[in-house]
Amino acid sequence: MAGARVRSSTSSSTSRLGSWVHVGKVGDFREGRGSVVRLDDKKVAVFKLGGRLQAIQDACPHMGASLADGRVENGRVVCHWHGWSFDLESGQGSLTSKNWLCARTYEVKLEGRDVYLRCPAEPPPRRPEDDEEWTAWDPKFLKTPKGTD
Ligand code: FES
Repeated sequence: MAGARVRSSTSSSTSRLGSWVHVGKVGDFREGRGSVVRLDDKKVAVFKLGGRLQAIQDACPHMGASLADGRVENGRVVCHWHGWSFDLESGQGSLTSKNWLCARTYEVKLEGRDVYLRCPAEPPPRRPEDDEEWTAWDPKFLKTPKGTD
């Protein structure tokens, strides 16, 4: 599902940490698919699954692929570049239990047909540059997929 459409939020551009931000109408999101919305300078992937909306950072913590273009299996979004997956509720990554493998998730609320997201107060931890597990990752996966650079 390449090319998820990016939608801008409709509220003011002041700091939104901890604030609810309007990102569209329920009907703007397609069932079973990921859509990208913008909150300030961040892209967020919103999935509509069984009529329920869930939101997670769009940039994969591994190498930045769009998670909105991934598929969802058993409540996890599977990145389409190298197959890492992230729980849509907690953001927990599948590869190890390391904190930096988590993706940021967002709270979603509906008011009528309007959809709002709220940024979590704390960002997920950053990946340490000298993490041997990450650097030992199979080098064949470290190439940028065609058409993404
Ligand atoms: S960029 Fe997502 S698994 Fe590699």
